[in-house]
Parts: sequence; C-alpha cells; structure tokens
Amino acid sequence: MIYKVSVNLRRKSYDIHIYNKISKNLSLSTIFLNNKNSVIITNNTINKVILTKKFFYIHDIIKNIPVFIIKDGECHKNLRVVEKIIYFLLDKTYSRDVTLIALGGGVIGDITGFVASIYQRGVNFFQIPTTLLAQVDASIGGKTGVNHKLGKNMIGSFWQPKGVFIDINFLLALPKVHIISGIAEIIKYAIIFDKKFFIWLEENLFKILNLQEKELLFCINKCCKFKAYVIKHDEKENNIRVFLNLGHSFAHAIETYTGYGKWLHGYAVSVGIVMAAYLSVQLHLLDENIFFRIVKLLYNAGLPIKGPKNMLPDEYLVLMLRDKKVLNKMMRLVIPVSLGKVQLISSVSESVLLDVIRKCQNKIYNF
Ligand code: GLY
Repeated sequence: MIYKVSVNLRRKSYDIHIYNKISKNLSLSTIFLNNKNSVIITNNTINKVILTKKFFYIHDIIKNIPVFIIKDGECHKNLRVVEKIIYFLLDKTYSRDVTLIALGGGVIGDITGFVASIYQRGVNFFQIPTTLLAQVDASIGGKTGVNHKLGKNMIGSFWQPKGVFIDINFLLALPKVHIISGIAEIIKYAIIFDKKFFIWLEENLFKILNLQEKELLFCINKCCKFKAYVIKHDEKENNIRVFLNLGHSFAHAIETYTGYGKWLHGYAVSVGIVMAAYLSVQLHLLDENIFFRIVKLLYNAGLPIKGPKNMLPDEYLVLMLRDKKVLNKMMRLVIPVSLGKVQLISSVSESVLLDVIRKCQNKIYNF
C-alpha cells in the first residue's frame, strides 16, 4: 500500500510519499539519479544502521551520494553544527544547485532545512524522516531551525522541502522510546482535529506500538493529511497552525530546563498536553471525563503524564514566557475544549497556571 498526500502551496507545493520499503518508490530513485549534486545530512546512529550496514533498501539508491554526518541528539541542534555543515559545503565548492537530503529524525530535518534555507540564500532539500515523530509531524510543513540555550527552536526559518519520503520500514530499527515519543504527536492530532480518530487510537494503540503495517500506514497518512491541510491554509503560523502547538509551550519549557535531549520531544509534549487539558478543566471548558480519557491514552502509550520531579511551577513559567507564541507579553496557550476541538486562549493569569502545574504534578490517577 502506498499513500500520497499533497501539500498545496502554489509554487512551493510538494508531495509526501508514504510506503513500506523505500526502494519500491520510483520517484525517489528518479529524484536522486537526476540530482547529481546531492548531499545527505544524517547522524552517526543512522549512518551505522542504514548506510554502512546496508540494512535498508534505501542503501542502493543513495550509496553514491556524499554524506555529512553529525552527532545524534537534540543537544547537537545548534548554530555550531550549522556552521560545520556550511563549512563542509563551501569547502567542497557546492553551489546553489546543491540539493540537501535530510535523512533522520526531527533534529536532522530541522537543521538540514535551516542550512538549506540560508546556504547561498537558499537551496533545495528533501526530507527522508526515519522516526515516527518526524514522519507524522516534523518533516512536513517547513519549520526549520536550531535551539538556543535560552529557548528551543529560537533560531529558524520557514523553508519548505521539495518532497517528503516516509518509509515505515525505518521504524523497525528505532528504539521503542522513539516510537512512544512519536505517538504523543499522533494523539495530539486526534485531540485537535478528530474525535473518531481519538476513539480509533483508544482501540488500536497497541497495534501502533507493535508497528503493525496496516494501522501504522493508516495513522501516518491521517496525520500527514491533517498537517497538509493546516499548512495549505496557514503556512507561517498566523492562524490555525498555532493549534499544532497543543502542549508545546509546557513541553519546550521542560526540554529547555532539562537540557536538550534528556527528555524526548514527544515525552515532553505528553506532559504538556496533560497540563493544557487540565488548565481547560480548571477554566470549565473541558469535561473532566474527557481529561481522564486523554491522560489515560497517553499513559497507555507508555508516555509520562507528569513533568520532571525537580522542576518547579515557577520554572515552567519563566521559560514559557520566552515562548515564540508569547505576543505583547501575553502567553497564548492552546487548550482542548472537547475531543477534536481546541481553542487558543491568551488571558490566563500566572496564578491559575502555577496552580494547574502544581496540581498536575501532584495528581493521583487510578487507571
Ligand atoms: N510541529 C508543529 C508545526 O509544524 O507547526
């Protein structure tokens, strides 16, 4: 089964190809054979598993393309590594016709896209996401960038890829924690857009965790469709794209506080979703039973539902006030108001927020 989802952005439109076993995708082979000037950006883990061990079918397609390898992990998504990639490209005299290929998870996609957006004022790039989180979210939509020690993704650009090639076969090599991390973003989509999909996830969660092909392809295709719809209507996050940040203000605070990479993004998003949902309960906008269903689904996926033990509510607040969604010093937060529906709020007081964080950290659940 092969799915194709189109991201319609006029001159910047591109397709997302979703399938099992990349070699069967002729369009990918054609693109790489026609792009003599390509460079793959990947990390040491993927290089070992995929490229050197010839573990995946993709090896045959890309074996003759130069590879630039960075170290694995969110803590390497920074300007120093950007500079290293640019040095490599300049040193090897790549000009504006170079095509960068991001082969990896969200870190590789974000950093490669960012380099593509600034190298000689912008070059083409493709995404080949290898983690579930990147396949359902990060590789699509053109958000690129790196972290700053004062805030996650604080340096970046919008730069759309020329195509996204998703192969669920990559997920077989992924540690379970990364599958679980990706599930947080999938659950996020269901909460934002689609009650039926949420119920489907309640019933099929274990099939996704066990990487069953039919359910996995269905699920990835669904998330890509949601994302493509959002990007088509709001590429630069002036409007509905902000909904995709459900849980992310809390999550970015956790990731910045703990040091990038110590908490996987999806793990932090899971806690963020719990806090956003509980805030909604406290504001009488969300039924408490739905809150419990959301928490239970995250919990059943193996995701954390409480933040780091030593992180105080005040420490969330300081970091959240630096978030990109803060406008005119007002924190804007996305909260669920029912299954399949969220709302953007901008008038929540600091004392309510502190209270919500404190209560979420101390809550006892009986699942
Ligand atoms: N990951 C959220 C977005 O791309 O907007």
